[in-house]
Amino acid sequence: MLEERTEAGSLRAGHAGVDVRLYGWVQSRRDHGGVIFVDLRDRSGLAQVVFNPDMGAADFAGAEKLRSEYVVAVAGRVRIRPEGSENPKMATGAVEVVAAELTILNRAKTPPFYIEDGVATDESLRLKYRYLDLRRPEMQNTFRLRHRITQIMRRYLDEAGFWEIETPILGKSTPEGARDYLVPSRINEGSFYALPQSPQLFKQLLMVSGMEKYYQIARCFRDEDLRADRQPEFTQLDLEMSFADAEDVLRVAEEILARVLSGVTGKSFPAPLPRLTYREAFERYGTDKPDTRFGLELVDIADIARGCAFKVFADAVAKGGMVKGICAKGFADMPRRELDDLGAFAGRCGAKGLAYIVITPDELKSPLTKFFSAAEMQSLIKRLGGEAGDILFFCADRPEIVCRTLGELRLELARRRHLIPEDRLSCLWVTEFPLLEYDEEEKRFVAVHHPFTAPLDEDVPLLASDPAAVRSKAYDLVLNGTELGGGSIRVHDGAVQRRIFDLLGFTPEQAQENFDFLLEAFAYGAPPHGGLALGLDRLVMILAGRNSIRDVIAFPKTQSANCLMTQAPGAVTDAQLRDLHIRVLDRG
Ligand code: AMO
Ligand code: AMP
Repeated sequence: MLEERTEAGSLRAGHAGVDVRLYGWVQSRRDHGGVIFVDLRDRSGLAQVVFNPDMGAADFAGAEKLRSEYVVAVAGRVRIRPEGSENPKMATGAVEVVAAELTILNRAKTPPFYIEDGVATDESLRLKYRYLDLRRPEMQNTFRLRHRITQIMRRYLDEAGFWEIETPILGKSTPEGARDYLVPSRINEGSFYALPQSPQLFKQLLMVSGMEKYYQIARCFRDEDLRADRQPEFTQLDLEMSFADAEDVLRVAEEILARVLSGVTGKSFPAPLPRLTYREAFERYGTDKPDTRFGLELVDIADIARGCAFKVFADAVAKGGMVKGICAKGFADMPRRELDDLGAFAGRCGAKGLAYIVITPDELKSPLTKFFSAAEMQSLIKRLGGEAGDILFFCADRPEIVCRTLGELRLELARRRHLIPEDRLSCLWVTEFPLLEYDEEEKRFVAVHHPFTAPLDEDVPLLASDPAAVRSKAYDLVLNGTELGGGSIRVHDGAVQRRIFDLLGFTPEQAQENFDFLLEAFAYGAPPHGGLALGLDRLVMILAGRNSIRDVIAFPKTQSANCLMTQAPGAVTDAQLRDLHIRVLDRG
């Protein structure tokens, strides 16, 4: 069959006069009184096929029966379309195939939605009939792109000396990180495997094994609340290197991205990427994943706010909080209603208010005028670089609230006024993450990256005196404001690792029980090592220009972690449960 096949989408004027055999689906059929036109679709594209009655009664009768999504084989001859009937919107629009033979390989029910790009169909219907949704050209193009990206990655990593090694899917549940997906063991009553949140520990153990350079296109499972860029199972390009420092890891990641970008878009990659420390990222953008394609940076005004007559500002500074502003250039025509709306937006971010100064050529409109002298107002305006036509926004609160509010406001303003140049890439490293963060609810330190991340050498002494101030050798890769990857140089010294477990609140027994194998392995000569993981789905999402990670995963889950096509997760029989020694308490 395939040897003599021609791909529909490949036909061009140069094929005129050539006999071809096409296989595919009926996109559409138009009956023009005696002549039937069919657009035949395969994964390469569409081609127009013409059926004339003189092709033979049986075949022509077949053509009359064709309906959308019938599967057909057509043999015929390519010809240049008659003048005036060319279709410049179609890649194959200069030609058509005059059919000589038709075989209907299969019939199809009427599909629940049109198989075409830009369907305005409810996503749940698309997910229920995902196999039909995936027939749409834009979906096929996305998966072709995804395939090309992984091929480029594999080729590069092979050339660079990385070995592709698989690690277990059935693993052990360990504390820290997101919630695990658990799998009950039939043979070991009452025991559970955990699906991997990432191959983190195994890849470190592979370094102890002397594999030196590992990679894997790894499935990861995390039972967390889902969003547009989060799925319960997702894919990472995961890698680890021995005898490597952070510079080596960052370079490898940049080389992979450069190859991918030039391979799929032809664009060059701005390596080496700019870097921001975690601290700078928060200071300027209020987030550790800044989108730097536009300005609207945060500006500190604590010194002006300190001791001012506006109690909210002065108190925030006095309590060790933060007061910051953003200058929205050219926004002064914003209607009052929208200003109120942004105040409500700030409220949803946790802020108690959003103060503003609207600068017009003749006056300042601001709820702050009653608290600030004219000179103070001018120093605020000067600090933020405000001019007539701008609006300045301010927020005072605890640092995390100010950062979240102004960080989100910055994005919201940019979205509303289309300030984000969609054709530009903002790609950068965020470095020097804190090692630990104090969790007020749990009343203990938690690892910001994960518990195996090494502290910066110069900060090791702080582990004893001021753990919250310790910076780590962790780095995140941020693409257009999305966290695309993360990694670190690891602790390879058992004593430092024990000290970190201790700070995380594990007793030596708990550390032993949970990470015994790792600590034991480190006692047998662990090389210095580090690595990172890139979120493959997120990378494909951005390069394919999609807004949802679901669009780049063949069979994704909904926000409530269901598969609408297979109806997973589903009930199981009592016998299955008995085998697994499981009793369900509450069947919802
Ligand atoms: P981390 O947890 O930062 O690091 O994950 C790496 C990257 O994986 C992607 N990602 C996700 N993508 C889709 N859905 C999710 N639920 C999801 N969670 C994470 C992100 C993220 O940047 N073992 C470490 C890496 C290392 O230290 O080498 C790890 O998993 O793009
Ligand atoms: P009030 O005196 O409460 O009317 O507040 C005056 C202005 O300050 C209003 O525009 C509020 O939105 C704003 N505001 C109140 N609390 C804060 C805050 N924490 N940060 C920034 N602005 C605030």
